[in-house]
Parts: sequence; C-alpha cells; structure tokens
Amino acid sequence: MDSITIKRPDDWHLHIRDGKMMEAVLPYTASVFGRAIIMPNLTPPVITAQDAVEYHERIMAALPKDTQFKPLMTAYLTDNTDPDDIAKGFQENAFVAVKLYPAHATTNSAHGVSDITKVDAVVKRMSEIGMPLLIHGEVTRSEVDIYDREAVFIQETLMPLKEKYPDLKVVLEHITTSEAVDFVKAADDTVAATITPQHIIINRSDMFRGGIRPHLYCLPIAKREKHRLAVREAAVSGHKSFFLGTDSAPHPIGAKESSCGCAGIFNVPAAIETYLEVFEEERKIENFEAFASLNGPAFYEMPVNEDSITIVKQDWNMENEIVIDETTSLHPFKGGKTVTWKVQ
Ligand code: DOR
Ligand code: ZN
Repeated sequence: MDSITIKRPDDWHLHIRDGKMMEAVLPYTASVFGRAIIMPNLTPPVITAQDAVEYHERIMAALPKDTQFKPLMTAYLTDNTDPDDIAKGFQENAFVAVKLYPAHATTNSAHGVSDITKVDAVVKRMSEIGMPLLIHGEVTRSEVDIYDREAVFIQETLMPLKEKYPDLKVVLEHITTSEAVDFVKAADDTVAATITPQHIIINRSDMFRGGIRPHLYCLPIAKREKHRLAVREAAVSGHKSFFLGTDSAPHPIGAKESSCGCAGIFNVPAAIETYLEVFEEERKIENFEAFASLNGPAFYEMPVNEDSITIVKQDWNMENEIVIDETTSLHPFKGGKTVTWKVQ
C-alpha cells in the first residue's frame, strides 16, 4: 500500500498551551485534524465557562486563516467547581467535557481534585445531562509506585465511580496498561479510552536506553513491554471504544533537559504518521480510519468530518529541534529519526 485516504481525523486529547507557544504548535494540529479536545491545564487553569470562552477566542485568533479546525473546550475540575456553571457551559457549547486531574498527578494539576467525593455534585449533574468526564487516571499517594498508579486508580476510584453513576460518560485518557484495556473492553459504551502514539511505541526501558531520555518522559509514564503490547493491540483492533488522542504536550527543551524535567511529549509534528506506522506494522491498516476518524465522533455524538486526508508512503526526516523564539525550542517525538508516511 503506498497511500491511504481517510475521513479527516480528530485529536481527542491535546495540549496547546497559550500565547507564543500556542501560535507555534497550533498549525501542526490544524493542518491535519478537524477538531481537537483542548486540555484546560493552563496557569491559571480554564475552570469556568467564561474562562473557556476567552481561551477559545485566543485560539481562534491564533489559528492560520485557511483552516476549518475547530477547538473543543474542556473545564478543569476543582474541589470548588460549580455544577450550575458546568451544566450551563455545556448547554451553551462553551465546553464539551470536564477534565478530572487528581491534584498533583501531573503538569499544572495543583488545582485538581483532592478527593473524588468533593466533586460528587458536579459528577452527578454531568451524568444527568450526558456530559463526558475525561479522566487522568492515576492515584497520587506517594507510597503507590509510579508504575502502578493507573491500575490502582481504576480499582480504587474509577470502578466505584462507574458503579455509582452507571450512565456517566467517561473517557479514560492516555491509557498505558493492560488493566485499563481490560476495564474499557468490559464496560458498556459509556466508557472509552484515548491512546497516544508514544504509549504504543515505547516501553519503560526505552526511557533509559543508553542513558536517561527526558523527551520520552510523560505521565502516565510508559510501562512494561506487556502493557505496551496490550494497549497497541487495543488501538489497532478497531474496537469502537478506543480512539486517537495524542496528548501532545510541548515543554521547552530546557524544561525537559533539567535536574527535574517536566512530563510531556510533543508529538503532533508526525502524530498521524507515527500512528499509521503502527497500524502498518501490525497489518491492521483497515482499522486505521475507525481509530483516527470514526470512533471518537461516535462516542462524543458528533458528526464525522466531511472531508478527507491522504497519507502517502514517503520517507522524511523529523527535525531535532523546532524553534519557537530566541529562547525557546521544542524537541518533537521522533526528532532526528526517519518517518515513513507523510500527509499530503
Ligand atoms: O505528560 C504529561 N504532560 N501528562 C499530562 O497529563 C499533562 C501533560 C502536560 O500538560 O504537560
Ligand atoms: Zn494530557
């Protein structure tokens, strides 16, 4: 196969930040994807409907003129989030979903939820109105090993939550474990998961191959090989509950290559191509369109994009460094490597 045409894909989990960084990274997404779920973990976070409306305006102003790209906004859940503001924001299309960060789980999550019981009224309302809850599924207690945090979260928090609110629509974001795959497969169609390119390509040993590799560090952290294989199998399976979410999360090179480097992998410059490489390696190209373009809209009850993109078999070299301004550069996923597909 030397080219593939699919309905325009969407990215159901994306960080674009704000200001100059946003201006620099947004064109990579807008040139390929029709829509993206925009993560709200700015400083300060996007908490209210009004915050989301203002962030949406900044994104629209930063977009290249010739694009139809549509940002889909989310609310950052805090212990003090007002259920009425969330419901009103959802009804008025200020946001399409709420993001749950357990407090201190990841980048800019200090304002996140300290205990799931604190947000019970919001979750109850979301369940009633059919608003999806997007979950960073990791416990944060320091005694829980970092490699176990997702599996423990599913047991301790997610299963009881879904038992209490069976109708609540949930997306378990950026899954990394066989436990997450099993949970999603066993659930009904109120539950789905996004899968990043890195979690189906690297395992935890790759972070330390030949030395420490800060640009492969993200959260949830890459797990053992058996987990990579389980998540990879789920991604290419065509199963309707698994869809594309890059979790592209740009951090300046200096913030990654540091004595305490930030979590996040900037993968959008070759996201669709690197996913496609995996489907090709697994001989499942026939399921690629479902994963990239169909399953997400079905879950979110949105129409599939009308137009299409074509990706051709063509080698090109991903640059090592993408310059944002005089002081800031990014190292993209696959930087310095050959990518074997290219969006036309
Ligand atoms: O690695 C990550 N980076 N995981 C997250 O959950 C957040 C993200 C970021 O915002 O940098
Ligand atoms: Zn994320």
